[in-house]
Amino acid sequence: MERIAIVTGAGNGIGAATAKKFAALGMKVAVVDVLKDSAERVTNEIIAAGGQAIAISCDVSIKKDVEHCIETVEQTFGVPNILINNAGIGGPFHRVDEVTEEEFDLVFGVNIKSVYLFAHNLLPKMKNMGFGRIVNTSSIQGLYGSPGSSSYVATKHAVIGYTKTIAAEWGQYGITCNAVCPGYVQTAMGAQDDAVDDYTKKVLSMTPTHSIASPEELADMMVFLVEQPYMNGSVNVMDGGITCHVGIMDV
Ligand SMILES: NC(=O)c1ccc[n+]([C@@H]2O[C@H](COP(=O)([O-])OP(=O)(O)OC[C@H]3O[C@@H](n4cnc5c(N)ncnc54)[C@H](O)[C@@H]3O)[C@@H](O)[C@H]2O)c1
Repeated sequence: MERIAIVTGAGNGIGAATAKKFAALGMKVAVVDVLKDSAERVTNEIIAAGGQAIAISCDVSIKKDVEHCIETVEQTFGVPNILINNAGIGGPFHRVDEVTEEEFDLVFGVNIKSVYLFAHNLLPKMKNMGFGRIVNTSSIQGLYGSPGSSSYVATKHAVIGYTKTIAAEWGQYGITCNAVCPGYVQTAMGAQDDAVDDYTKKVLSMTPTHSIASPEELADMMVFLVEQPYMNGSVNVMDGGITCHVGIMDV
């Protein structure tokens, strides 16, 4: 079966690495990002390497953008049977009593409403094909509370709840849904391995492997999860072991 993938937040970081790996494996890839230039840059790199990709400018929190995105993929490549809900934003980084309604709505829109919008549209189509693979990017902050990150933490917990429920509802139709929980990854949102700031030093000292993941390592996990038919509803932590010991919240 032809594999047609949508990867959101694919203009940078984990999504870009995933889109490139998928294309190298012969998948047709929709590189979806709110940043048009970033989506086009990654798409051009894929095409230059001999792969097939299309850049789609889309705010994943907006219903009409998501519908337009899926229509464009269908017209270009066919109905998508792989969906990587990866776009995400951090913050707001202050206490619950200081978080504004606008900040709360923004992070919930991008990090969790997007999962609903794409899954709501694509699940019936995947059911018709008898095949579908969904991977949702959560976080280690989807597993624990973290002072100063309430909205982000809540959305990443919600991603896991959504993942498990989709897995339970749709597994009978040949559709799997899994979650990835990265620890610290070398992206704009994460930390840099070679950075010398106090935050990064603390992350490195608290991570048992004393390292920060590359986006490619997370992309390898995405590949694994779309290729394994018996992985369903799983929550896959890739964090160098930082969540294995107490004190993580002090980072
Ligand atoms: N980097 C880390 O340390 C880390 C850790 C845990 C979880 N994550 C999660 O991994 C995912 C990818 O993050 P990353 O580290 O690659 O970050 P990144 O900032 O490098 O990439 C995120 C991409 O998402 C895009 N995006 C943001 N809002 C969007 C929107 N409304 N619509 C469409 N695209 C949008 C951005 O433009 C960007 O290209 C996120 O869900 C993030 O929460 C990252």
